Amino acid sequence: PMAFTVAIDGPAAAGKGTIARAVAAHFGFAYLDTGLLYRAVGAKVTEGADPLEAAQALRAEDLNAEGLRTQAVAEAASRVAVNPQVRAALVDFQRAFAARAGGAVLDGRDIGTVICPEAQAKLFVTASPEVRAERRYLELVEGGHEATREAVLDDVKARDARDSERATAPLRPADDAVVIDTSEMSIKEAVAAAIGAVEARG
Ligand code: C5P
Repeated sequence: PMAFTVAIDGPAAAGKGTIARAVAAHFGFAYLDTGLLYRAVGAKVTEGADPLEAAQALRAEDLNAEGLRTQAVAEAASRVAVNPQVRAALVDFQRAFAARAGGAVLDGRDIGTVICPEAQAKLFVTASPEVRAERRYLELVEGGHEATREAVLDDVKARDARDSERATAPLRPADDAVVIDTSEMSIKEAVAAAIGAVEARG
């Protein structure tokens, strides 16, 4: 069968991951959180590795490493993600995943624009910075982490700026992406909107 690829992009904490996982489960597709690639490279750089060498040496097992979900690693990821050579070194892994015969969902920042411009379905999942910061804040507090709303909002805005203003593969919706703004949606509503948008392209 022909590979069917769903590309899901958007800023941090917009609900991309939750939606991508639900879409993948609904259609029986494989799921790749491409942020984990940048996080794995960022984590190695924090430990002293060279960014390009870390990207070139990246293996699937590295995506299961512990500690990739922390704020510190997210920061390190967004710093290595501005490096065009690092981004280029991660392209083949993502394209191979997207080409899986059984269908694939990839989420990230540049899947519809750079990695899989031929994807059958493209979604851009977004929400206001305030709503995203509030969700992230609640996640952190529930996870037992110390956080303030103000610091989390500052962090969301800083990462947005870095992701959308970088020269290589900046965060933006593909021309043919369906934009889903989850600011006023429940998870259930957002997932239903995403599945509907994918069905419309199938
Ligand atoms: O999505 P997540 O928060 O895990 O991504 C961490 C960082 O990795 C993002 O802030 C972004 O800078 C970078 N990233 C990227 N391109 C992707 C996925 C993530 O630049 N496709």
